[in-house]
Amino acid sequence: CGIVGYVGSQSALEIVTAGLKRLEYRGYDSAGVAVLADGGLAAAKKAGKLVNLEKELKERPLPTGSTAIGHTRWATHGGPTDANAHPHLDNAGRVAVVHNGIIENFAALRAELEERGHELGSETDTEVVAHLIAEEFSGCADLAEAMRLVCRRLEGAFTLVAVHADEPDVVVGARRNSPLVVGVGEGEAFLASDVAAFIDHTRAAIELGQDQVVELRRDGVSVTGFDGRPADVRSYRVDWDAAAAEKGGYDYFMLKEIAEQPKAVADTLLGRIDASGSLTLDEVRISASALREVDKVVIVACGTAFHAGLIAKYAIEHWTRIPCEVELASEFRYRDPILDQQTLVIAISQSGETMDTLMALRHAREQGARVLAICNTNGSTIPRESDAVLYTHAGPEVAVASTKAFLTQLVACYLVALYLGQVRGTKWGDEIGAVIRELSRISCEVERVLETMEPVRELARSLASKNTVLFLGRHVGYPVALEGALKLKELAYMHAEGFAAGELKHGPIALIEDDLPVVVVVPSPRGRSVLHDKIVSNMQEIRARGARTIVIAEEGDEAVVPYADHLIRIPATPTLLQPLVATVPLQVFACELATARGNEVDQPRNLAKSVTVE
Ligand code: G6P
Repeated sequence: CGIVGYVGSQSALEIVTAGLKRLEYRGYDSAGVAVLADGGLAAAKKAGKLVNLEKELKERPLPTGSTAIGHTRWATHGGPTDANAHPHLDNAGRVAVVHNGIIENFAALRAELEERGHELGSETDTEVVAHLIAEEFSGCADLAEAMRLVCRRLEGAFTLVAVHADEPDVVVGARRNSPLVVGVGEGEAFLASDVAAFIDHTRAAIELGQDQVVELRRDGVSVTGFDGRPADVRSYRVDWDAAAAEKGGYDYFMLKEIAEQPKAVADTLLGRIDASGSLTLDEVRISASALREVDKVVIVACGTAFHAGLIAKYAIEHWTRIPCEVELASEFRYRDPILDQQTLVIAISQSGETMDTLMALRHAREQGARVLAICNTNGSTIPRESDAVLYTHAGPEVAVASTKAFLTQLVACYLVALYLGQVRGTKWGDEIGAVIRELSRISCEVERVLETMEPVRELARSLASKNTVLFLGRHVGYPVALEGALKLKELAYMHAEGFAAGELKHGPIALIEDDLPVVVVVPSPRGRSVLHDKIVSNMQEIRARGARTIVIAEEGDEAVVPYADHLIRIPATPTLLQPLVATVPLQVFACELATARGNEVDQPRNLAKSVTVE
């Protein structure tokens, strides 16, 4: 969900709805606002996308006021209806609350409130908070204090923002687990899930910590813990420019983000490797001796970041000889994994807020393991709770389907693998020097791939009426195949599956039928040529059964030509780096197919960019 709050001298409603637009990527199945005006509180909320709310506000305008809050929702408790949309109000209509997260003990709290005569009108866990705040406020007449008292009774994950008609120039926010940042302007202040909501107004931001409550007034903000004690906060300047959060002339954020990949890759490498070839991380709170003792690496992540992790395993094991496991964060802690102080857990997350990944990280730390985060969002929860951090410099990624973040996660994984080798004094042959040289050139190769994508777009359009597309790969091409299939599911809503090409004969080949499109990611014929030869046989097998092959192969690889119905060329790279160039055509393919099928590219149905619930 996305949350915005404002207090100042401008029209609060305009600021809040503009902020919600910037946050719509966080959830878009309903939206709502509340404004304090004329001694009272007025609210509007609507199921569906933000435009529905905007229409409602045009038809039935709310009074103008200088304090407001807003919310764009991705439903967890209760379906996406008008009644379940936020804000939620108390019975007297004096308190309004918006919420991101899940309040786990809401049923008990609700029963308690009903016993005391409260009437709750929605199915949400949030509504109880509005009622509880109203009760506490009647005792102390201080919204921040009422919020603190209520937060101490809540269990689960919650970021809350509230206003009360009896404190008309105050917005109060509380943070546990899900993100909340404060923007400080001249005579005005902002609260939002993401700085994108207020960067048009101010660059001065304050990061809220876990279990903190912030009180916003026109002339400043004050932050305390849930216990009321003043809290230390970190102020910083937002260096993303406003244009970066806009589409910059592209039809979709996703197209813009695909095009930004060469820069994102170059930025992520920038300053990381010095002239002598040694690497630095952004934050390291693990001693070199602890890193030398690492005897196992476990990577945890979700979605696209998980696929980056699968690729990282090949690099880490090959370059450092440390055993490496990769696990879906949502599965990790429930299987009682074997972890100790010698385990290095790598948590990969674009947003730094994915709840599954965060919970996996916490579990790992409880077991004594050290955690290194690879993350794109400065100051988000996952890096804050990790022992070491390497930030990817992809810039803001707005489209739900991850593209540039993925490429930068790969770069970061390679850097971490090299870093581990470096601190452990791994004796490397010539290969590593070549890899470092190739890495520093790779953004130009990504650029070259982008320049040749028109035939891929044409091909995608021609396949718009298909129901199924399969993806095959071997070695690092296997996770690339999984990522290609994921992109197609997310965007084109097609049945898409990725397979290890060697597994084909053990089952999936039964799916092959006449004219079924099968994308084949072909490893380099140089280096491990055995892999290459095997996949050429796989292509023959599927073509013999009618498949239409779409082959992604290195420039100069002539052996694939007889078996390719469509051939997409990528530059020659060392095998382990090939995903950086091989993924790009698959992103373009999925984006174009989605457009051809009339789907919303940036906001696919049922999905959210940052999933802050487990
Ligand atoms: C969601 C998004 C995916 C993303 C995954 C992990 O499911 O829709 O695109 O890969 O979360 O997100 P993270 O922010 O942790 O990388």
